[in-house]
Amino acid sequence: MKHLKNILVTGGAGYIGSHTVTKLSEAGFRAIVVDDFRNSYQSVIENLNELCLIKPLFFNVDCTNRVVLKRIFETHHIYGVIHFAAYKSVEDSINKPAAYFQNNINSLVTITELMNEFNVDKLVFSSSCTVYGEPDSIMVSEDSPLQEAKTPYGYSKQVGEDFLKFLVKSEDNIIKPIILRYFNPVGAHPSGLIGELPINKPRNLMPLVCQSAAEMIGPIKVFGTDYDTPDGSCIRDFIHVLDLADAHIKSLDYAKQMDEPLEVFNVGTGRGTSVLELINSFQAINHIEVPHVLGERRDGDIVKIYADTTKINNKLNWSSQYSMEDAIAHSWNWQQNLLSQKVF
Ligand code: NAD
Ligand code: WQD
Repeated sequence: MKHLKNILVTGGAGYIGSHTVTKLSEAGFRAIVVDDFRNSYQSVIENLNELCLIKPLFFNVDCTNRVVLKRIFETHHIYGVIHFAAYKSVEDSINKPAAYFQNNINSLVTITELMNEFNVDKLVFSSSCTVYGEPDSIMVSEDSPLQEAKTPYGYSKQVGEDFLKFLVKSEDNIIKPIILRYFNPVGAHPSGLIGELPINKPRNLMPLVCQSAAEMIGPIKVFGTDYDTPDGSCIRDFIHVLDLADAHIKSLDYAKQMDEPLEVFNVGTGRGTSVLELINSFQAINHIEVPHVLGERRDGDIVKIYADTTKINNKLNWSSQYSMEDAIAHSWNWQQNLLSQKVF
């Protein structure tokens, strides 16, 4: 165990972070998780201990707290950092812009300062397809223009990306960041031990579909059925969370021989699925009804978007492995396990 490489994972108890911790263990890394559980449950840790052969270390720390975070860098040799910790609700951010800036920007600045101080050069940063806004063409590549952000959350990701672009040009910087722009993560670990479990009411489509099928909430509303798409509902690129997690492992590997000072990659499947297609597949695959009603458009929704994945396929040798059917089955398996564990 002496020669294990330590990866600091901020937000490692969250949805994407926890799945990445399992992939790190499979790849022979030890995860050092920093999370203060502001949007996750402590039970995630027990389940991660069960799932990981290489047991993660956990620190209940706010990663904007430089003093405490510094102690972790002093006491553990850190090989690389995956920075997930952030607030992530688009809707919530509109009423709490200060909190979003305080957390999403300060945590990144704090982490990068400590990385430079302790000579840690590998950083994977969670960005989002939200930076593209409403794109001119349905398939977006990393070179597609970014639209002016319409929400504090989206803006916080654009600022995070811009900050890293300035940082790599600064004199004393040694960090070579890899920015991953995630499309829409769905699914859960096939064991049913970890999945999406926010503290507050979920806002994303898949957990709402699960809760509606489980009759925990009423029928979900399909936001808009008169768009210019084959069935009138919006189109997204839904990616299995374990495939997304794997992209972080591939990024750490790539970071070893990276020529560019900074790289940006889309992480999606390269395929679009509509909201109604997702609901219909969920019903067919899981043999359960998803109560839903056809509703009005949601303000600010992007009509259709999916990822051009050529760059990540070629440079990171990464492509998605799980199907939409897998993701749908795994999400429902997780939801059923949750009900039996009575986590809520
Ligand atoms: P999540 O809320 O499930 O996980 C984030 C974790 O970070 C939580 O466990 C939370 O407690 C922790 N955290 C937040 N601020 C912290 C702080 N200051 N100190 C310590 N811990 C803190 O979110 P997620 O879905 O796993 O998203 C992870 C990252 O990916 C975020 O940066 C998010 O913006 C980005 N992202 C998410 C999506 C998505 O749809 N889920 C899409 C694109 C990008
Ligand atoms: C998906 C589709 C809705 C709920 C957000 C962020 C983005 C990224 C991913 C973090 C849309 C429809 C939803 C419902 C519905 N997150 N829907 N009824 O809007 O693609 O993106 O999450 O970075 O930044 O903006 O995800 O899951 O909210 O919606 O019809 O009750 O499902 O209209 O078309 P979205 P989502």
